[in-house]
Amino acid sequence: MSTVAVALCRPGFEVEAAADLAEIATRARTVSTVEVRRDSGFVVARLDTTAGPEAWRRAVADAPPVFIRSHWIGTGPHPIAAPRPATAADEPRARAGREVDRITPLVGAFEALASTAGHEPTWQAPFVEHADTNDGRALSTLARALEGRLAGALAARGYASATSARRAHVLLVDGATAYVGTADDPWGSRWPNGIARVRAPAGAPSRSALKLAEAITLFLGERAGTLLREGLSAVDLGAAPGGWTSQLVARGMHVTAVDNAALDPALARHLNVEHVRADGLGYRPRRPVDWLVCDMVERPARIAALVGDWIAEGRARHAIFNLKLPMKRRRDEALACAAAIRARIERSGIEASVALRHLYHDREEVTGCVLRER
Ligand SMILES: C[S@@+](CC[C@H](N)C(=O)[O-])C[C@H]1O[C@@H](n2cnc3c(N)ncnc32)[C@H](O)[C@@H]1O
Repeated sequence: MSTVAVALCRPGFEVEAAADLAEIATRARTVSTVEVRRDSGFVVARLDTTAGPEAWRRAVADAPPVFIRSHWIGTGPHPIAAPRPATAADEPRARAGREVDRITPLVGAFEALASTAGHEPTWQAPFVEHADTNDGRALSTLARALEGRLAGALAARGYASATSARRAHVLLVDGATAYVGTADDPWGSRWPNGIARVRAPAGAPSRSALKLAEAITLFLGERAGTLLREGLSAVDLGAAPGGWTSQLVARGMHVTAVDNAALDPALARHLNVEHVRADGLGYRPRRPVDWLVCDMVERPARIAALVGDWIAEGRARHAIFNLKLPMKRRRDEALACAAAIRARIERSGIEASVALRHLYHDREEVTGCVLRER
């Protein structure tokens, strides 16, 4: 059984996810061939030599994937729908399809993995995942049912540890085929299928609010309460109708919402919101603010230059921004934008991290985050 890396992505972005995965594999000095099935929502890389977890971890830190929601290393594809040996008594149930035993082959695959892996084989309870496609989502009930039973079976064999940094994963390709593997935090995901479940504040005027909520969860995690708190200030470029502004106001922040278009009337009346009708590309705040957020529909290179300038000139400490991608060369464009922002900030002597991710709520776009360290 060959070693594979399995990565989940938005359907239609398999080429970009494959390039992310190939880059990590190359940096981890692992030879790989990546299978890309268009619109499948996942990619599988066959690894000819297996990098140790340390080499893989370093490679992910050096080249964090942009288009991958979650990825892990394991084996497969495994046939998992072994029919139970039927007795005369349960023949009718077997015929009804209720007696397919998927747990035994899955546990067998994990046992084989544990015996070959050069590490402590105890994992957090498994995520049984599926692609974010119509066919994939049709497997969600089966996935939930298997998740509990597999967790119990792995625990019974001593593979469970709630405190392990490593989680067990299964990808159901269909009801009869699966990949299994394990991921170290954070290159797997904190959420099944790599999708963070988020909510918009009550009365948020647009679904875009979910995009910022997801970005906050993904990029800030436990630091969100400290970095976005009452009394801090933000400028929201391209704010209308106000989904992003409503997220920040809900956290007690003061927001200057810049857009020539109209804001949601209730939000425009909010005491912590100032609506400025201006061109966001030229707008600059009178005093430095804590946050720049930007969702303007503009060329990605222009947004990257703008974000780089705001941080490098000390106009904002941190930024979350959206880059609308071109139809072609989407990954190249995203990476070029991140590199331009990094270069601009580095020249100013400011220390900041720059990260990009294709969020669940992003379509033909990616979301970025700049965090000033000091
Ligand atoms: C995708 S919408 C923003 C949605 C918003 N983030 C929300 O949550 O409701 C893009 C907005 O950018 C604004 N926009 C585009 N170019 C702009 C510019 N140069 N200056 C200011 N606003 C701009 C548009 O008027 C539009 O309201």
